[in-house]
Amino acid sequence: MTELLEPSPQDIDRAVALLRDGQLVAFPTETVYGLGGDATSDIAVARIFDAKGRPRFNPLIVHLPSLAAAEDYAIFSPEARALAAAFWPGPLTLVVPLKEPSRLSPLVTAGLDSVAIRVPAHPVAQALLSACSIPLAAPSANPSGRVSPTRASHVLDGLGGRIAAVIDGGPCSVGVESSIVTLHPSPTLLRPGGLPVEALEAALGHPLAVAGTSPKITAPGQLASHYAPSASVRLNASTARSGEVLVGFGPINGDLTLSATGDLVEAAAALFHTLREADLQAGANGSIAFAPVPDTGLGRAINDRLRRAAAPREV
Ligand code: TXA
Ligand code: MG
Repeated sequence: MTELLEPSPQDIDRAVALLRDGQLVAFPTETVYGLGGDATSDIAVARIFDAKGRPRFNPLIVHLPSLAAAEDYAIFSPEARALAAAFWPGPLTLVVPLKEPSRLSPLVTAGLDSVAIRVPAHPVAQALLSACSIPLAAPSANPSGRVSPTRASHVLDGLGGRIAAVIDGGPCSVGVESSIVTLHPSPTLLRPGGLPVEALEAALGHPLAVAGTSPKITAPGQLASHYAPSASVRLNASTARSGEVLVGFGPINGDLTLSATGDLVEAAAALFHTLREADLQAGANGSIAFAPVPDTGLGRAINDRLRRAAAPREV
């Protein structure tokens, strides 16, 4: 059962307790309802992908109560700071370099060295983020491929029974997702959204590039920089060949394993750490073999990521 919470102090405390326990809580923002989970917890973030039935590990937006809080996790250039000062809190997401070492789960950033951060203005989102003092990863609170929710009832329609709770903050005032701007290498609109481009350009004092209009600029989701191991990767292995690091799953034991019990949420949570560790163990010009992972539920997203790790490299 999904708990329906009110924006009262007691219910916000309840939501905070659930989030600190790694559970998922949907909450209102001025754009759309977000499906929140602890962005520092691999398991909580894996649960977000599982609940949405997302077939890919796209990077997620990290929500924080203020620019000051965001500076613990990312590096803000003067230009990023100017946009944050002009539009936060509000319907703007900024993609900025990750501050290393990072406490964020690598599943949130899909292994990238940048992070998307948003400071929402909705008073319930603000109350929740301030009270829980952990960054919340939050994609829109709908099953993958369905319309974004702008009321608590929409969240329950799509995800009822799959998440711990939803806080009812009434209808969202903006109703479309935040505008996403990356600052690297230069200010570029990655996703048009709730904040008009004209307002962004006025604050910057110059026109904004738009992703996809120049071959040099990659649209989100097509980012080539997703962490790829330097070792070669072989899939559907049941045993290791000579010199290979074998990553097991379920009954297939390896040098490492994604999940000895064959749990897909645990495997998703371990995926990016394990890729990195296997790469280190394999060494220069080494090779990694992965045991088969069932192509159901989160297994689809895991296999999508593994196929891309195994694909021929562009030089
Ligand atoms: O209004 C919104 O933005 C809502 C509410 C809940 O805040 N959230 C939302 O989140 O739409 P989500 O996770 O669905 O949006 C993620 C988008 C994707 O298009 C993803 O490619 C992009 O943000 N993104 C995230 N991290 C990125 C990164 N490091 N570089 C480029 N794009 C990134
Ligand atoms: Mg969405």
